[in-house]
Amino acid sequence: MNSRLRRSALYMPGLNKRAMDKGRTLDADMLLIDLEDSVAPNRKQEARDSSAAAIGKGGYGRREVVLRVNAQDTPYWQDDLDVLTKCTPDGVLVPKINSPEDVLSASTAIRDRVGRRETDLWLMMETPSSVLNSREIAAVVGRVPALQGFVVGTNDLGKDSGVLPGHERLHLLPWLMQLVASAKAFGLDIIDGVFNDFSDEKGFEREARRGRELGMTGKSLIHPRQIAACNKAFSPSKEEIQEARKIVEAFSAKGSADKGVIVVDGRMVERLHLELAESTLARAGVEW
Ligand code: COA
Ligand code: MG
Repeated sequence: MNSRLRRSALYMPGLNKRAMDKGRTLDADMLLIDLEDSVAPNRKQEARDSSAAAIGKGGYGRREVVLRVNAQDTPYWQDDLDVLTKCTPDGVLVPKINSPEDVLSASTAIRDRVGRRETDLWLMMETPSSVLNSREIAAVVGRVPALQGFVVGTNDLGKDSGVLPGHERLHLLPWLMQLVASAKAFGLDIIDGVFNDFSDEKGFEREARRGRELGMTGKSLIHPRQIAACNKAFSPSKEEIQEARKIVEAFSAKGSADKGVIVVDGRMVERLHLELAESTLARAGVEW
């Protein structure tokens, strides 16, 4: 599993210079600079130029900068990849992945542009085929170590399948869980889909929390207003930190160092819980 903090991934149109400037000060862990759906067909070149300029200028600090290009079967793909010869984003996000072959061809095309420079690969999982083939798609990490993970495209999943997103995403859940299992089985991260109604704070908080419960690494966002709540939802809560401390302390107490299972507050706690507790404290930046 990756240890980088990837709680919040904010999309911004590659045309929007103000948003790309603002990205340098926002508390998002990842910035997804978009050349695809948020850019009209007649403005693709303008967006390539302005995103290359913003990424080239840098100043993004700890934030991972990922360029979302157009899909491989579009007329924009090759020109989008040329942006990689003009600047060095941390990664590239490729839409409409349907099969392991799609990952291999994208990876080869990106390599042709970046040479030996390390460039992460991220995959949009947003079609019914991507769900059905997710295990084989994730397995490509064995051949393409640059592969970091999936970004779920819930809007497109709904569009291509007819599944309606309402009811707390009830009907999408089996697909989301299949994507989580495939990603985690191969040590990949998985970033949940966006919540479109950025003025509905309560709704966003609920969906972000649910995303974490599903096992998502983080969530993709469309507006800066969603960042703080997202980081909170994907960070350990006070109660979780307290609980983790208790478990770590209990295992390090005299006489417990060589025990496999102990009792904390009347509950059975095993060494796997100790591992989980330690990872909770590490994620929360707590020393123990
Ligand atoms: N990233 C960075 N900054 C953003 C931003 C984003 N995604 N969305 C808005 N902002 C900035 C605005 O520039 C503005 O900054 P300012 O006050 O310094 O001028 C501030 O946040 C408030 O913006 P607001 O007026 O509330 O939003 P808007 O009406 O300008 O834009 C959207 C609304 C939805 C068009 C815009 O948020 C957006 O483009 N989101 C991303 C869309 C996208 O990339 N979609 C593709 C993937 S689904
Ligand atoms: Mg999409």
